[in-house]
Amino acid sequence: MRKKIVAGNWKMNLSYAEAMSLADALVNAVEENASPDIILASPFIYLHELISRIQGNPNFYMAAQNCSEHQKGAFTGEVSAPMLASIGIEHVLIGHSERRTLYGESDVVLRSKVDRAIESGLIPIFCCGEMLAERNAGSHFQRVADQLNNGLFGISEKQMKECIIAYEPVWAIGTGVTASSEQAQEMHAFIRSEIAKKYSAELADTISILYGGSVNAQNAAELFTCKDVDGGLVGGASLKSAEFISIIRAMESVSTN
Ligand code: PGA
Repeated sequence: MRKKIVAGNWKMNLSYAEAMSLADALVNAVEENASPDIILASPFIYLHELISRIQGNPNFYMAAQNCSEHQKGAFTGEVSAPMLASIGIEHVLIGHSERRTLYGESDVVLRSKVDRAIESGLIPIFCCGEMLAERNAGSHFQRVADQLNNGLFGISEKQMKECIIAYEPVWAIGTGVTASSEQAQEMHAFIRSEIAKKYSAELADTISILYGGSVNAQNAAELFTCKDVDGGLVGGASLKSAEFISIIRAMESVSTN
């Protein structure tokens, strides 16, 4: 059985007080045993405090939104994977489209980040997804295959087993336009087939693949019903406790049906 996961990507939002009260509201609202894994990707500065806030609820995990491709040293302003691991973080987003486009992170850099994360025992949540022009040109499968091949694949089967993948079509991120459930399912099945080709069908069957891009309380259930969609990476809608809780509930109801 693949892990069902609902992850919130807070990006560069929320004050300290807002972040703490959002986390407290979520931890209090979510049943301990009946829920998917919930991963909160908060800004670095809140991670340490949030770890103690979520401790009472075993469904909750924290993620960083990024890490350095270097292990340590003279890299002013950067945060390393070993630092994250040393405060108890379990997950790190790698290759989010905003990092790729706004900060010029190449597949080569991302591959180093994946290595640093794995060496530190962190679980990479590796993000991939095509631009609108690539989808319109029909090159979306190739684009995602290239991102996986160059940024992620190459790690060992044992390491791959620990990874989570998030498919986030760039045209759907923050736009209010969601991929249809058919488009999401088709790409998730494709990603699984690429993993099977590179590693094995058994491994492909165990990897959780999340969909991201304008997931909200209205469309979550339909997306989560897709056979190869194991959860969501939620941006804007993860900043409002009631809406994020509805998305978690959508996953709970799909999982129990
Ligand atoms: P969105 O963001 O849900 O606001 O579209 C998703 C993401 O960037 O991970």
